[in-house]
Parts: sequence; C-alpha cells; structure tokens
Amino acid sequence: MDVSIAKTTEQDAKHFEVWLNDPEITKWLSSIYRYNKYDALFHRFALRKNDNIFFTVKFQELPIGFVGVTQIDKAEKSGMVFVVLGEKKHGGRGIMSKALNLALNKLFFEFDFHSINAWILEDNNPSIRMVKNNNFKQIGIQRECHLVEGAFKNRILFDILKNDFKRLA
Ligand SMILES: CC(C)(COP(=O)(O)OP(=O)(O)OC[C@H]1O[C@@H](n2cnc3c(N)ncnc32)[C@H](O)[C@@H]1OP(=O)(O)O)[C@@H](O)C(=O)NCCC(=O)NCCS
Repeated sequence: MDVSIAKTTEQDAKHFEVWLNDPEITKWLSSIYRYNKYDALFHRFALRKNDNIFFTVKFQELPIGFVGVTQIDKAEKSGMVFVVLGEKKHGGRGIMSKALNLALNKLFFEFDFHSINAWILEDNNPSIRMVKNNNFKQIGIQRECHLVEGAFKNRILFDILKNDFKRLA
C-alpha cells in the first residue's frame, strides 16, 4: 500500500483548512474544531508550538489526511493522537490504520514516546476499528462528556504502550 507520512509543513495549511472545516469530519472531533472555523493562520501557530506534532499522510504521493499528536508531555513521554482522513473517497481501505501505524512507529522509536492515548466517540466505529487494528487497549469510558446536537455522548478511552506496538504489513 503506497502510504507515507511526513512532518506537516506550513504549505499543507490549505489542505487542513478544507478538511478541518468539513462538518462530516469535525463532528467526531472536540468542540474547538466543531465550533470554530479552522484557518491557515491557526495552522501555522499550531505547528510552531512544541506540545504537538502533526504528520501529513500521503497516498500515492498526494496529501489525504493527517495524524495529529497533541497534549505532548515530554517529561512523561506521553501524548494523545487524533487521526483524520480528509479525502474521504479513500476511506475503508486500511489507509489510515496503516498511517497511524507509521506514526506510532516514529513516535515510539524515533521520538522516544512511552505511551500514546486516544479518545473516540462511542458511535465512531471506523475510528474504534482503526485503533484496535493498531493494538490500542480500551482503558475506560468517560461518561457523557461530549454534547452533540443536544445529546450527551460517551468518549471511549484507549491507549497503547511502546511494548504493545506491532508493525502492520
Ligand atoms: C477514522 C478514520 C481516520 C478512518 O480512516 P480510514 O482510512 O477509513 O480507516 P481504515 O480504512 O484503516 O479503516 C479502519 C476500520 O474502519 C472500517 N471502516 C472505515 N470506514 C468505514 C465506514 N464508512 N463504515 C464502516 N466501517 C468503516 C474499516 O473497514 C476498518 O475496519 P476493519 O479493519 O475491521 O476492516 C476516518 O474515518 C476519519 O477521518 N473519520 C473522521 C475523523 C475521526 O473520526 N477521527 C478520529 C478521531 S481520533
């Protein structure tokens, strides 16, 4: 599968601006993305902060999405991932499971992280499958902490440790 990742650049802003202003995508993300317009300036500022890392995902050399790592705590060697397939026509082919796997490999073995966590809304089945494909373990449920169209939803909490990592084919 022709999937690759590379550190996100300021030139990628135009793609992020499209993907992160798409309600079909942002409905699964935190309120900052659901209730604010994402713009290129914000993107540039985000990239300059050292508590996050973004990898742009390419399929056949074209940018199609990203793996974001936020809430990085260097002292604890921990961070939280969120993953977006921006070009939705590529969905369901294993591309983002593989991209997450490539990102985890870098995070654990180049950046020396020890633990990576993720939260996923209870009805976001593709995301749940994606982290399970990557050997994340479910560690709990944060109850009704997410308000979508008047309904409180649970977040399912997952994590993976360096020792749990398995390379996907
Ligand atoms: C989550 C997301 C990145 C998955 O991207 P993807 O490239 O489709 O992922 P994969 O092809 O690797 O699929 C992962 C699993 O979901 C399944 N899947 C993907 N799209 C699906 C769909 N529309 N309906 C049902 N299952 C689906 C795949 O079959 C696969 O499961 P399997 O391994 O058991 O077969 C993408 O759906 C997305 O960007 N969603 C919106 C943002 C989001 O929810 N991010 C997660 C926050 S952490």
